[in-house]
Parts: sequence; C-alpha cells; structure tokens
Amino acid sequence: MLRRTLLAASASDRMRQMVVSAPYTRDVVARYVAGEDAAAAVEATRRLQASGLAVSLDYLGEDTTSQDHATAVAAEYVALLGRLEAGGLSQDGGAEVSVKPTALGLHLPEHGEKTAAANIERICVAARAAGTTVTVDMEDHTHVEATLRIVRELRGDYPDLGCVIQSQLRRSAADCRALASAGSRVRLCKGAYDPPPEAAFASRAEVDRSYARCLRILMAGAGYPMLATHDPRLIRIIAAQAVLTGRGNAGFEYQMLYGIRPAEQLRLAATGAKVRVYVPYGSDWYGYLVRRLAERPANLAFFLRSLASRR
Ligand code: FDA
Repeated sequence: MLRRTLLAASASDRMRQMVVSAPYTRDVVARYVAGEDAAAAVEATRRLQASGLAVSLDYLGEDTTSQDHATAVAAEYVALLGRLEAGGLSQDGGAEVSVKPTALGLHLPEHGEKTAAANIERICVAARAAGTTVTVDMEDHTHVEATLRIVRELRGDYPDLGCVIQSQLRRSAADCRALASAGSRVRLCKGAYDPPPEAAFASRAEVDRSYARCLRILMAGAGYPMLATHDPRLIRIIAAQAVLTGRGNAGFEYQMLYGIRPAEQLRLAATGAKVRVYVPYGSDWYGYLVRRLAERPANLAFFLRSLASRR
C-alpha cells in the first residue's frame, strides 16, 4: 500500500520539488547513485572492477519530452563508452551500459518509437567499438510491447542487445519462452513499477513464484540469463538451477543494484560466479530514488524525516 502511494505520488511536481530540496535526501541519494557526472561513474566502475565485479552503467533520466534532449542522452552514452574504452574498463563487457527507451525518445508525440530505436542503435555502435554491450531497461507496463519490438528489430544487427523481463507481469513467462533462444541476453527482475491488476500479479508471493518460473525457463533455454535480484531465497534457487542445468559460472550472471547488499555481491563473486552491479549516475535521480525507497520500508524513515524537516 505504502509502495503504491509512493510510486503514485512520485509523479507530482510538488512532491519532486520537496524531495529534491530536502536536506536528508542527499545522504539517501549518495547510497544509491555513483555521482552526478561521467567522471564519478567511471571512478565507481574502476573501484567495482578492482573488487572483481562487472558493471552496467545507467545515465539517469526518463520520460524525455524533446528530440534534442533524447539526442543529448544518446550522446552522453556514446561519450561515456569512449571514456570506458580509453580507461580499459569496457573490454569483454567488463562495463556495459543500460538504457531507458523513454529517456531516448519513446514518449515523443511524433515518431517516438523510431527515435528511441535510432538512439539505441547509436549507442549499440559505440558499445561494439568499445568491446561491450547494451541492455535495454524495461519501464512501465505500457511500454513493454514497444520496447520488445525495438529490441527484436535491433537484434538483427546487434544480436547481443540485452532486454529485461519483469516477473510481476502476467505475460512474462510467455515472453521468456519467446526470448530463450541462442545468444539472447535477458535480464530477469521483479519489476519496479506499479502495473494494474489485469496486467500484473498482486502479491509479493505471486511475483516471487513467477520469478522462479521465468528463471527455470531462461536457465533451461539457450540464451544468457542475467538474474537481477537481491532476494536471498531467489539467489539460492538461482544457484541450484545453475547446478541442475549444468550451466556453470560462464552461462549466466547475477545482477544487483549499486549500494544494495554490497557484501552479498562480493560473496557471490568470491564463489566464482559473475556478478554485475547496475550503477546509476547523473543529476536526474528523482524517479530512480523513489523506486528504491518504495522497495524497502526501512528506507522510508529517511525519506519521511527529510520531508518533515522542511517544516
Ligand atoms: P525484493 O524487493 O523482495 O528485495 C529482496 C531483499 O533485497 C530485501 O529484503 C532487501 O534485503 C534487499 N533490497 C531490495 N531493495 C532494496 C533497497 N531499495 N534498499 C535496500 N535493500 C533492498 N526493474 C524494472 O522494472 N526494470 C528494469 O529494467 C530493472 N533493472 C534492474 C537491474 C538490476 C541489475 C536490478 C538488480 C534490478 C533492476 N530492477 C528493474 C529493479 C527490480 O525490478 C526490483 O525492483 C529490485 O531489484 C528489488 O527487487 P528484489 O528482487 O531485490 O527483491
């Protein structure tokens, strides 16, 4: 209930203004976001790689409303990939990038899908030159069809383009079956948005059961599963599935968010498994922060304190 209220309130401009300017907010942001610019992102990447972790970098922002801004977001990614390559951090996918279709133009009133696809393709070209890959994040359930269409189309030229499936959606087991083909990189997560009941499972238990179902489909298939979760129970199921399917450590990877369960990230890497950390950076952190707060009631204490201290 609290999660739903928070996600709904996140759309309000007044709420955004209060949160962005509240004194305690910065401390919470610093926990989840690597910094405001590419230099900070590259520095965090270097640190994480030195401790044996792979990285996926996300330039924060979503719901772009102008062509120029969408172009600028793509340019930021191209420049970032150049920096990663120059720093010797991107080779063999050691650091890749994650992109949001709405940040790259999907929402534009005219030719949104075409614009997002063209911008993602520019990023794919730069990623290939840097020796790494791109994964297309999944946003709100209303964007699933268009996002999967863009991925399908671009995979003709960029077969290593990754996509994301959210286990909270009822359609996801079918999507996993369609995507579990050779070379297909699929990130499985629970889903951070708030879809309506006709599209999504209502309870946490159902979302978890759906995750386990999708996981089994992806692990039994011919693609490359990227298993994004911090949930200890699901991590045990993933490890068991890896043994059962004989995939071994090279056949899949764990993914976790920057600042969440860092000790667990290192523990899994020490077992020989591949672990990738999703590292967001940039000044447009509001939407990302609210989704992280909504996931964890304990974090709400910080949040509410920061709002109260404004009065
Ligand atoms: P769950 O939320 O049940 O948490 C399990 C445990 O993890 C908690 O008990 C706690 O210990 C810890 N934890 C989880 N969240 C925490 C937080 N915010 N702060 C502190 N501890 C926390 N979603 C989406 O819709 N589209 C996408 O493209 C992506 N991409 C993505 C990439 C990667 C690498 C990850 C890890 C996650 C995503 N997500 C996402 C987010 C995802 O859908 C989901 O919201 C979060 O991962 C939280 O779900 P868990 O599976 O961790 O389980």
